[in-house]
Order: sequence, then C-alpha cells, then structure tokens
Amino acid sequence: MKKIIVTGGAGFIGSHTVVELYNAGYEPIIIDNFSNSQKSVLAGLQNITGSAVKLFEGDCCNRDLLKKIFTEEENIDGIIHFAAHKAVSESVQNPLKYYRNNLNSLMALLEIMQNYNCSNFVFSSSCTVYGQPDKLPVTEVAPKKPAESPYGNTKKICEDIIEDVIKSNAELKIISLRYFNPIGAHASSLIGELPLGVPDNLVPYITQTAAGIREKLTIFGNDYDTSDGTCVRDYIHVIDLAKAHVKAFEYLNKQEDKTFYDVFNIGTGHGNSVKEIVETFQSANNVNLNYVVGKRREGDIEKIFADVDKATTLLNWKTELSLEQALIDAWNWQKALRK
Ligand code: WQD
Repeated sequence: MKKIIVTGGAGFIGSHTVVELYNAGYEPIIIDNFSNSQKSVLAGLQNITGSAVKLFEGDCCNRDLLKKIFTEEENIDGIIHFAAHKAVSESVQNPLKYYRNNLNSLMALLEIMQNYNCSNFVFSSSCTVYGQPDKLPVTEVAPKKPAESPYGNTKKICEDIIEDVIKSNAELKIISLRYFNPIGAHASSLIGELPLGVPDNLVPYITQTAAGIREKLTIFGNDYDTSDGTCVRDYIHVIDLAKAHVKAFEYLNKQEDKTFYDVFNIGTGHGNSVKEIVETFQSANNVNLNYVVGKRREGDIEKIFADVDKATTLLNWKTELSLEQALIDAWNWQKALRK
C-alpha cells in the first residue's frame, strides 16, 4: 500500500482525510503534536477503519523527527500537510506563534522531502487568500488580496514559498487546496470537530448553543449587502473536502513532470448566509436555536463562494453531501460528545 504522511492527521479535516485515504487503499501515517486535537480521535479512527492508524507524535517543525520518520518508513509516497495553527482571532493576538509554526513546518517538510526523493505534496490552503473577491463565484485566477489576519497571511506566504520552490525546479509535485468553510462530521459520529475552548467558527458555536453549552449564538452583523444582511460563505461537508485530498493525490501521481504545481478551490460552489445556516440547522435537526443579532466581527468579509469547475474537471471531484446533511452530522456529533 502507498504510504501517505498526514500532518495534523488527528485534527478535524486531517482525521476525516485519514479515513478517506484508508478507504481508497492508501496507508495513512499521522504526525500530530496534539496541540489542537485530542488522542481520542485515534480510537475513533480505529473504530471506523478497523485498524490502528500509525502515529508519530510530535511537531512537523522538528527536523530530527522528520528524519526519523523518513528513515524508519520506506517509500513514503507523499505528504498531506494540515498541521498549522488556524484560529483567526488568536493569530491577531499572537502573530509570531502563527508565523513561526505555520511557515517553519512547511519549510521543514519541503526540505526533508527533497532529501528523501519524496515528491507528492498536498498543501492545506484557504479561501482566505482571496480576501473579499471582486467577482463571485471566485476562481483560482482571482488576485490574492491583503490578508485580514496573520493566520490568513501565513496561508498566502506558504503559497508564495511553494511557488518559489517550484520556480527553483525542485523535484516536487505540489497541489494547494484552497478550502472554503468545512463543516459537519463523519456519519458514524466517531470523529468530528473538536474546537478547544470557545469556538471561533459558526457551526461548532451553533451546535454548542443547541447543546446548552453556550447560552446563545450571536450573529455578527445583519447590515451587509446580502439577501438577508448576514455574511455569505461556502459551507462544505468535511467528508467531501477529505475526498478532494485523495483525488488531488491521484492527480499528482498522473503528472509526468518532476516539477509540478497547481491550485484548486474546494467548496460547494454555492453561498449560504449565516441566517440560512441557522434556519437550516433548526429545520434539519428539528431544534430551536437561541440567537441574537450583534455587531459585525472585525475582519469578516461580506460574501464569498467558490467556482469549483477546475477541481471538477481536472480532479474529477465534486461535492456529494448536502448542507442539510452536514448540519445533521454536526449535530449528531455534538450529541455523541455529551454522552
Ligand atoms: C463564518 C460566518 C461570521 C461565529 C474562517 C477562516 C477560514 C477557515 C474557517 C479555519 C462569518 C459568522 C461566526 C459566530 C457568527 N479557517 N459567525 N457568529 O470566518 O468564514 O472563516 O474559519 O478553520 O480560513 O478565515 O468562518 O465560521 O468563523 O464564520 O455570526 O459565533 O459566521 O461572522 O460571517 P470564516 P467562521
């Protein structure tokens, strides 16, 4: 079986991608320092896949650890790199933590890969690199805009680092996947999103409010120039997002050139407002949500959703799961957590 290293493989998107890699016949190997994930995820993965997923506990910035892994594990076919700090608000408070970790981990991985002739690399990027696009749906050729946060800036800088490494004719084949807003959980409710502390993101805040952990949801502003005044995003089921990584790997394996790079939007191609998410959550799960409308959140853009034609055409990928299903799976996961 082809071995694929999944950095941050115990995280939200990483763990769901480990399952899809396993389903596609790959052997996923997790590197995770559990700074933003829990070891209980490993048991969930074992229950879902029926086998223990190999784990190297540690930090991707640790070059000695990476050397150890590449020495012990022969013929690693590639790396999917999720491990990064990702909380927008925290990045504003502590930018150096974000620049140090998110940039150093990428550079350490790209260097070790070249030392061990491992060439396939999928990078976890974000639609945040677009800022507020001038035109919607946003395509991959849209200009990157000044980042709204140090977190977003690390994603932009990482893409720049990759572009420069590719321009140096490094023998690497790389894809950056620009995620939109991942939501939901595995249908088994054995793995899902595990935000540490108070969630920044909308859907985990909604599920924790519905579970009585949070008193109420605050909708951050309803005076935007959208259908109902609340911000619009492209919410994609985390399983669909995970499957896109398998497709990206298969596409890399087809590339003849020793040096290759491309970028893909991974979203549903549709936008939904915050209000629509709240209403869909309530109707799909038959629950009432306690919410109020508050003031805008600093740094939020008004509206973004993806043009996904490129991923559909070249990666032979498109979303299969609905917004309703994602919100049902998210709620089922939250309820399973309380048991
Ligand atoms: C979505 C909408 C909020 C919480 C960020 C990153 C992105 C990705 C996902 C990391 C916005 C509104 C939210 C709340 C609200 N990265 N909201 N009340 O900001 O689109 O994207 O997280 O995982 O790269 O930029 O996601 O879920 O925080 O917000 O009204 O309590 O929900 O204003 O309009 P965002 P989000």
